[in-house]
Amino acid sequence: MVKLDMSVVQERISYEELEELISWINHIHGFDFSGYSRASLKRRVTRIMDIYGLDLFDLKGMLVNDHLFFEEFVVQITVNVTEMFRDPSFFRLVREKVIPYLTSFPRVKVWNAGCSTGEELYSFAILLKLEGLLERSFLYGTDINPRVLEKAKAGVYPLSNMKKYSENYLNTGYSGSLVDFYVAQYDAAAISNELKKNTLFSVHNLVSDRVFNEFQVVSCRNVLIYFNTDLQKRVLQLFYDSLCPFGFLCLGAKESLRAFDMTGRFRIVDKFENLYQKIG
Ligand SMILES: C[S@@+](CC[C@H](N)C(=O)[O-])C[C@H]1O[C@@H](n2cnc3c(N)ncnc32)[C@H](O)[C@@H]1O
Repeated sequence: MVKLDMSVVQERISYEELEELISWINHIHGFDFSGYSRASLKRRVTRIMDIYGLDLFDLKGMLVNDHLFFEEFVVQITVNVTEMFRDPSFFRLVREKVIPYLTSFPRVKVWNAGCSTGEELYSFAILLKLEGLLERSFLYGTDINPRVLEKAKAGVYPLSNMKKYSENYLNTGYSGSLVDFYVAQYDAAAISNELKKNTLFSVHNLVSDRVFNEFQVVSCRNVLIYFNTDLQKRVLQLFYDSLCPFGFLCLGAKESLRAFDMTGRFRIVDKFENLYQKIG
């Protein structure tokens, strides 16, 4: 087996250079990645440099001169993986422990922060439809990345994804079929207009943007894991401020309120799927 002498393998970017790049991007484009975990950022920037065959000097040149390249850079820096009914146990517990309370609100506004291409938001729309709440609900999907939001607005997904999404859906405990909520067109599945009617997708950066409405539910999953503790605290405060009294914060299995002093502010609704209710 050939052994690599790691001392001669050239790093594409050092941690010092990464710091410099982060403040430079903030200066030029106003995008602040300083609260993102460094290990993941370094891996992603290295990957971009590999794909395009760029050194740091060329990378900066492209970032400043080529707007489309900058957009692509943001796509690559942020992880956009998502699914409909991702982690079915999350939706099962939302159904069991959150929905019964929502019936007492005259209007249900849901904010799906870091919604990526929209599958999570449409899953919420289906849940609300099945529980008879969709007509009085409005769902807002936001993300830092305008490219994923275009896909979310279109609500058209590869038909081949629907097998996995249907399995997820059935694992939430609902009967019937996901087919009732989309129209198959050749190799694509288009989310039904009934679900899209009460949705709005727009750019919102959790790092720099503020409260924009008051919600009964805020759901943000698989986003905070990319942030450091300070940024997590700031974003959790933003969610707290965005919730109405007795509104619900849904974080999912990977993220919790550990970084946040929640004494007297939230009660734990489910400790595995990190569902919380604002009480203070
Ligand atoms: C892994 S996806 C999660 C998608 C979905 N919530 C889920 O769990 O399936 C993370 C999303 O967070 C978004 N994101 C990253 N940083 C963000 C920020 N500062 N503000 C808003 N969204 C952000 C990314 O663009 C990406 O679409």
